[in-house]
Amino acid sequence: MVVRAQRPEDPEDKAAVRRVITEAFGPEGAKVADLAEALAASMNNRLSFVAEHAEQEGQATQQGQATQLGQAGQEGQAAQLGQAGQEGQATQLGQAGQEGQAAQQGQAGQEGQVVGHVQLSRSWVDAPARLVDVLVLSPLGVLPRYQSKGIGKQLVARSIAEAEKAGAPMLFLEGSPAYYSRLGFEPGGRHGFTRPSVRIPEAAFQVVLLPAYEPWMTGALVYNEQFWAHDCVGLR
Ligand SMILES: CC(C)(COP(=O)(O)OP(=O)(O)OC[C@H]1O[C@@H](n2cnc3c(N)ncnc32)[C@H](O)[C@@H]1OP(=O)(O)O)[C@@H](O)C(=O)NCCC(=O)NCCS
Repeated sequence: MVVRAQRPEDPEDKAAVRRVITEAFGPEGAKVADLAEALAASMNNRLSFVAEHAEQEGQATQQGQATQLGQAGQEGQAAQLGQAGQEGQATQLGQAGQEGQAAQQGQAGQEGQVVGHVQLSRSWVDAPARLVDVLVLSPLGVLPRYQSKGIGKQLVARSIAEAEKAGAPMLFLEGSPAYYSRLGFEPGGRHGFTRPSVRIPEAAFQVVLLPAYEPWMTGALVYNEQFWAHDCVGLR
């Protein structure tokens, strides 16, 4: 089994992404999947990425390169914060439709099956000078039988790279420090940030500082309203 390089989520992937999230998050799955769909809509279906199962290594490598080459420049432009864009979607039409169908059929280990997903969304840091647009990584999920194969790590690395391309100064998340500290995240309190809820343990509130970060950008992280509307704050 090979997992191809990740690609932007396409609207055709919606059912497959929902399956990944519901299986990954267990009892909280439906709620988290609803959150992911609301966040995707709030971002005009940008800044979410999927990992796919690929059957043959040679084929997967070539396709993965093609996917990356075809999109590299366009995604960076499309991903500017606050802009609506269709570029990432346009590059995936055709291929993504077939993959979405394969995933919906629920066939295990099928070429193109979506096995992992990550969503980035817009939130703010309430800094003394002004509100600062930032990104939050949530949710991240990998189908249980594909876990511990490095897929989560790849999706987090892609997320950091895309957040940087989008010009975000920081990427926040709430999650296990044992997992995310290995992937570049630090405690948010270390840089003067305050967690958006007391229900998030201090150690779980984490951040990566990106090149656009400036030291005056301190203050409370204010979550996108969808986290509150779906009661998805401090879950883990
Ligand atoms: C967390 C998750 C996305 C990681 O995906 P993955 O593809 O399995 O991750 P990787 O292969 O990169 O890393 C796996 C390693 O991380 C460890 N790990 C996974 N979740 C962890 C956690 N919460 N705390 C500490 N370590 C964790 C695994 O034990 C494994 O360790 P190993 O390499 O020593 O075997 C996946 O386990 C998942 O979907 N979990 C359920 C949903 C969830 O909790 N999402 C994160 C919410 S913040």
